[in-house]
Amino acid sequence: MKILIVGSGGREHALGWKIKQSKQVEQLYFAPGNAGTASLGQNIPVGVSSFGEIKQAVLQHQIDMVLVGPEIPLVDGIRDFFLADEQLCKIPIIGPDQQGAMLEGSKDFAKAFMMKYNIPTARYETFTAGETDKAAGFMKTLNPPYVLKADGLAAGKGVLIIDQYDEALTELSAMLDGKFGDASRKVVIEEFLSGTELSVFVLTDGKNYKILPEAKDYKRIGEGDTGLNTGGMGAISPVPFANMEFMKKVEERIVIPTVEGLQKEQIDYRGFIFLGLINVNGDPVVIEYNVRMGDPETEAVMLRIASDFVDLLKGVAEQNLNTRELIIDQRNAATVMMVSGGYPGDYEKGKVISGTEKVSNSLVFHAGTALKDGEIVTAGGRVLALSAYGSSRSEALETAYQDAALISFEGKYYRKDLGFDL
Ligand code: AMP
Ligand code: GLY
Repeated sequence: MKILIVGSGGREHALGWKIKQSKQVEQLYFAPGNAGTASLGQNIPVGVSSFGEIKQAVLQHQIDMVLVGPEIPLVDGIRDFFLADEQLCKIPIIGPDQQGAMLEGSKDFAKAFMMKYNIPTARYETFTAGETDKAAGFMKTLNPPYVLKADGLAAGKGVLIIDQYDEALTELSAMLDGKFGDASRKVVIEEFLSGTELSVFVLTDGKNYKILPEAKDYKRIGEGDTGLNTGGMGAISPVPFANMEFMKKVEERIVIPTVEGLQKEQIDYRGFIFLGLINVNGDPVVIEYNVRMGDPETEAVMLRIASDFVDLLKGVAEQNLNTRELIIDQRNAATVMMVSGGYPGDYEKGKVISGTEKVSNSLVFHAGTALKDGEIVTAGGRVLALSAYGSSRSEALETAYQDAALISFEGKYYRKDLGFDL
């Protein structure tokens, strides 16, 4: 098989690494990929939302399956584009259609879906311009802090958590006025939940599902979970509190009603459902849905899948996932994200990366890298994800840290306290 992976981050490199292990794969392509994915297959220089150019690449290289990494092309309707095209409609594409992708593309849609199917989530209401008085009334029924969410995609920046009532109202007005562009013309206000977060990944063909290994990511730039939010500074899998009892609740209260709800809504969902959950006194509650794998969670989760991943993807495409086997590696996996100095604020690109050849105990997944004059250089805030196995979480982290120390680039930074809270 020839498989095309759409995307260019550490997630796509890790997916490619796992997929490449399958005997069923003849050639891998990435659109657009990065310096790391170039060692697994061929990078095709097209953007993730350039559907016309993706079509050309699929036809030119006789691609047999497309796997979509990021949410934007899904929310923009890449699956619908394939299904509507005579030449593409028979080529399996892993990822939901535009309607299914609204689970991530619209917080209001996701919340209404959860209410309808009785899936545990924070109490909420949605407001649009001119409804600030109504919102003020609803906020009086909540205890601070106040959670304000832009309805649409806002590059991970659309959620504000504010302690003061007055400030929350001011921010609400700013959001409705377009603080996050059209994404915040509608705002979800919800109850604040406290607990530890985790990410649970479900692969579904629309009828059957498999629960992939769970993970926990570390979003803040600073040690001890301080400072600004980032795309993710590292991940660990498994998550100790996600024991059998907890995961049984996740399956019964969240996974099954979600998959059944999608069916009832007549959404033919074939792809990943990423459940952003919070553990509230032993009970899982949904913070958000995403319609893709997580990054950097994927860089840890892929290490824990022992079976043929392409076989699972074929099960999704052919809607017989129930006949496919998911084997989970019982070892621990940890991912340490190495980032550019200054990230998530301003940072410089083009710094030469050296030392990756010295790494022997971890996998080096590239996130933001490029090839320039034969050298690997930084090309993003998140640069490299180092992933390692261990018989314990601390052993896996220790290995990834030892290898991170071997790599150099100007301004390199990574958190050294991952797992501190568990
Ligand atoms: P989201 O984009 O919905 O995942 O929100 C981003 C982050 O905001 C989450 O990962 C949580 O850390 C936090 N968050 C979102 N909703 C809530 C909530 N209801 N209670 C507490 N924290 C929240
Ligand atoms: N790691 C969180 C995300 O991918 O959204």
